Amino acid sequence: MNQPDERGGRLFARACTECHSLRGSGGQKAPKLDGFLSRRWIRGILLHPESADYYGNAKISGMEGYEKLGEQKIGQLTDYLYALRSHAADDPALESGRRLFVSAGCAECHALVKGKDNGGPTLAGYGSTAWLTGMLRDPGTPAYYDVQNKMPDFGNRLPPEDINDLVSFLKALEQEDAELAQGG
Ligand code: HEC
Ligand code: HEC
Repeated sequence: MNQPDERGGRLFARACTECHSLRGSGGQKAPKLDGFLSRRWIRGILLHPESADYYGNAKISGMEGYEKLGEQKIGQLTDYLYALRSHAADDPALESGRRLFVSAGCAECHALVKGKDNGGPTLAGYGSTAWLTGMLRDPGTPAYYDVQNKMPDFGNRLPPEDINDLVSFLKALEQEDAELAQGG
């Protein structure tokens, strides 16, 4: 009953559902978080960032959809982004993904190295505990959503333990996609 992600779930219901929807309820002012950071979720944001499921409701803009890249490249980029939470961006095992990221123009707006800012949200450690913690603490810094940000800075509103619990909760959401895919 008192696992971090369960405590995080209770906090989420209290502090986050005004704007975010999850499992069919909640607000429409921010990206939907069903399956957040799963491969399906990442693929969707690359194809249609402007959709109401992603940034459409928040009315933040700056990235076009990448349907034109075709299935194969979208798949490769999805795998690359998915790996960034557990691998360094320049890990030789991810070489082809990194090259595609650069040749498709993604690096013009997204940094892959901590401390660098290319304008768009940083993807250094994308989806890792550090990335999520930084985002919840201060989504309005230049490294994240910058001047377009409309989400409160929870680093100034919640104690660090609560932020940790919310991060655990967010990290568990991709599992729900896996369960759906298995029909259970
Ligand atoms: C012209 C700048 C620009 C380019 C080029 C660009 N993006 Fe983005 N990207 C953004 C911005 C700005 C956002 C924030 C959402 C928005 O404004 O639509 C974003 C959001 C994202 C997100 C979601 C980040 C989050 O907060 O969860 C991912 C993942 C992403 N981009 C990957 C890519 C990839 C992969 C490419 C190349 C195929 C790419 N972007 C190209 C500007 C860009
Ligand atoms: C007042 C509305 C609002 C509240 C409350 C809010 N958010 Fe957000 N959130 C947003 C918006 C809008 C965005 C899109 C980026 C932006 O505009 O800053 C966002 C982005 C996010 C993202 C990134 C999604 C992506 O594209 O990668 C996550 C994760 C997130 N919020 C989690 C939370 C959690 C957890 C809470 C509660 C502790 C919360 N939010 C509370 C409005 C809100």
